[in-house]
Amino acid sequence: MVNLVIDGQSVEAEEGWTILEAARYYGIDIPTLCYEEGLSSYSACRLCTVEIIRDGRSKLSASCSFPVQEGIEVRTNSRRVREARKIIIELMLASCPNSRTLQCLASRYGVTKMRFRAEDRGCLLCGLCIRMCKEQMQAGAIGFVSRGTDRKVIMPFHMRSEQCRECGACLYICPVCELPCQGPMQPGELCNACLDTVQLEAFPCKD
Ligand code: SF4
Ligand code: SF4
Ligand code: FES
Repeated sequence: MVNLVIDGQSVEAEEGWTILEAARYYGIDIPTLCYEEGLSSYSACRLCTVEIIRDGRSKLSASCSFPVQEGIEVRTNSRRVREARKIIIELMLASCPNSRTLQCLASRYGVTKMRFRAEDRGCLLCGLCIRMCKEQMQAGAIGFVSRGTDRKVIMPFHMRSEQCRECGACLYICPVCELPCQGPMQPGELCNACLDTVQLEAFPCKD
């Protein structure tokens, strides 16, 4: 077993667990977007960022891929983490401003302004659809192509793949392909309508 501290609580974790797995085991909430139980970690979105303190030095890391280590201290909700999380949500919103999942995350984590110019790219490059297709559906019908700003997922709808069974799992898991946020915002703006509701523990508009 590995001994570590998460948010001031001394915990034991199995060797090989990630910080995210250990935190969830003890009921500590860390938001995620590109992580899904049952799929491999890809660490694309960084939403699960936590602060890790080791030998008196602190750094921010993605908890979904960082393995638990003996003696480290993890802070999941420090000021540094909260600020990083807000910027990450803002950056993702700039790429996909109409994503309902992102709009809900913005409301939940206090993002009330967008400092980056929004340009709807229709994809967060989170890789969820590709991993779902390959690892759960055993199809491997879609994948990334190109690099940098040209990087994109080749979808079966753009290029018909023989391997595609039209199961729809890639669309189901995509945080952008869902119905857009139905809040009262103009395209490219923050909705924040969820801030008017009382219960924000669970995503109010993710039904
Ligand atoms: S619909 Fe096609 S591309 Fe999408 S997960 Fe299913 S097999 Fe893969
Ligand atoms: S299409 Fe959706 S699931 Fe696939 S990488 Fe883009 S945002 Fe992620
Ligand atoms: S959930 Fe960990 S990097 Fe996306």
